[in-house]
Amino acid sequence: MIRDSVTFYNVLLGLHIIAVIAWMSGLLYLPRLFAYHTRAEAGSQMDETFKTMEVKLLRIIINPSMILVFILGGTLVWVDLQRLGPHFWLSPWALTKLAGILVLSGWHGFLAGARRAFAENRNTRSEHFWRMTNELPFLAAIVIVLSVTTKFGS
Ligand code: HEM
Repeated sequence: MIRDSVTFYNVLLGLHIIAVIAWMSGLLYLPRLFAYHTRAEAGSQMDETFKTMEVKLLRIIINPSMILVFILGGTLVWVDLQRLGPHFWLSPWALTKLAGILVLSGWHGFLAGARRAFAENRNTRSEHFWRMTNELPFLAAIVIVLSVTTKFGS
């Protein structure tokens, strides 16, 4: 069985977790940049610097790492399906993880839209908003990680 190839599976798992770390770090850092960006006057040098930092963070770190998380995670699902069958993915912990992934992906999309709004000087959200929502992806990550490590209800 492919799942019995410990090296293949464990390397995949390790790469999956590394990609998750990169994705999470970007999702946590981008709203922090937005919070400071709200203080910059439109057209100022500070404004332009934040715009550059935000687009690079999104295009170089956040988007590619999300794609890697999905590719590597999808491959892990495929390997698990070979060995454990579909019922493995219908257990409460797996559905909870899926819900967390949907929250993170939705938040990613929301941040990408906000990045465009800042780039076009259309942001209307306050520094307070960006500070208050900053921990949302971290809460989702706690739920996801504890779901996979405990596999509750399976
Ligand atoms: C499309 C998105 C994702 C897919 C398809 C996916 C799929 C998987 C699969 C199949 C495993 C192996 C489960 C097992 O048999 O033990 C796994 C492990 C893991 N995933 Fe994901 N994952 C995704 C996103 C995430 C995210 C967003 C996080 C964290 C924020 C995460 C954290 C973890 C962790 C920590 C493990 C290791 C669990 C352990 O070995 O005990 N994953 N993932």
